[in-house]
Amino acid sequence: MSQHTPALAIETAGLVKTFGETRAVDGVDLAVPAGTVYGVLGPNGAGKTTTVKMLATLLRPDGGEAHVFGHDVVREADEVRGRVSLTGQYASVDEDLTGTENLVLLGRLLGHSKQAARRRSEQLLEAFGLSEAAAKQVKHYSGGMRRRIDIAASILNTPDLLFLDEPTTGLDPRSRNQVWDIVRAVVAQGTTVLLTTQYLDEADQLASRIAVIDHGKVIAEGTKGELKASVGAGSVHLRLRDPGQRPDAERVLRATLDADVQLEPDPVALTARLSSATGDSAAEEASRALAELARTGITVDNFSLGQPSLDEVFLALTGHDTGQDSGQDLGRDSKDEVAA
Ligand SMILES: Nc1ncnc2c1ncn2[C@@H]1O[C@H](COP(=O)(O)OP(=O)(O)O)[C@@H](O)[C@H]1O
Ligand SMILES: [Mg+2]
Repeated sequence: MSQHTPALAIETAGLVKTFGETRAVDGVDLAVPAGTVYGVLGPNGAGKTTTVKMLATLLRPDGGEAHVFGHDVVREADEVRGRVSLTGQYASVDEDLTGTENLVLLGRLLGHSKQAARRRSEQLLEAFGLSEAAAKQVKHYSGGMRRRIDIAASILNTPDLLFLDEPTTGLDPRSRNQVWDIVRAVVAQGTTVLLTTQYLDEADQLASRIAVIDHGKVIAEGTKGELKASVGAGSVHLRLRDPGQRPDAERVLRATLDADVQLEPDPVALTARLSSATGDSAAEEASRALAELARTGITVDNFSLGQPSLDEVFLALTGHDTGQDSGQDLGRDSKDEVAA
């Protein structure tokens, strides 16, 4: 890659990393525009962390090339290290120290004066809603607080590029939202963020562009809109009062939505997969369908809108599912229950 573009924070070509027989990263091409959040979406074992580690100079690629702000991650590793910061599945924070002690210590290690380190620590703890926990040992922090102090530690010096490796995996919805707000604030200050996630809704909330990876390969890449258009807008799930009206409801839904309608085992339930080809939002499409059902005299007891899940994205893109059990469906299929 002799012609790398400086406006790109990250540019990779044919990046490869193998562990024995496993091609963890198998020819990845990425082009991450500076100043944005770029989402790398994929299930467990897809190669997300391995990719991040190579870009952060922690692992040496076995093939291909990667440039960070125009610097080769192997030949110019020092320049790269000077501009990036990493948080996620790595502990830089000491559990036995308090929030303040951790941030001041790391600030000192980064060369700040004692006073400057204290000031920056206070500022970050405040910004991350951790002021009250400042004097508590990190081992007593909740999962969400822990994730926030990790990110705070990684932006003591505002990096040009921040790697966030699954920053919200396992967090409750409220803590996820807090982390999302932090990510937005970090980007607003000019930092480029490479975010890895298993959650489609997280990539949707934060990222401008998304690369979907599976078995070490990029299987789809584009803006959120492009990606969503390729998998549909989601689904609407209906429960009728009268099972006898289901055939009529099915017909009306097919006609109004031009959608794939599925009859559920429950005799009053049916699900329509929304196309998004109309350009309407899922909510608009669903309202149209409900109005039409009402007009036809079909009584809907209850409906919910479901966003496409990562599983559905994978199914649409690869024809197979993620191979994960969907036990932890944290936001995967965020259904807004609405009584009709
Ligand atoms: N140090 C390692 N040694 C052997 N195999 C590894 C190592 N790190 C990752 N792998 C394997 O590489 C693949 C990709 O892993 P990883 O990059 O951690 O995926 P992700 O972060 O998307 O869950 C997996 O099959 C994983 O088991
Ligand atoms: Mg990982």
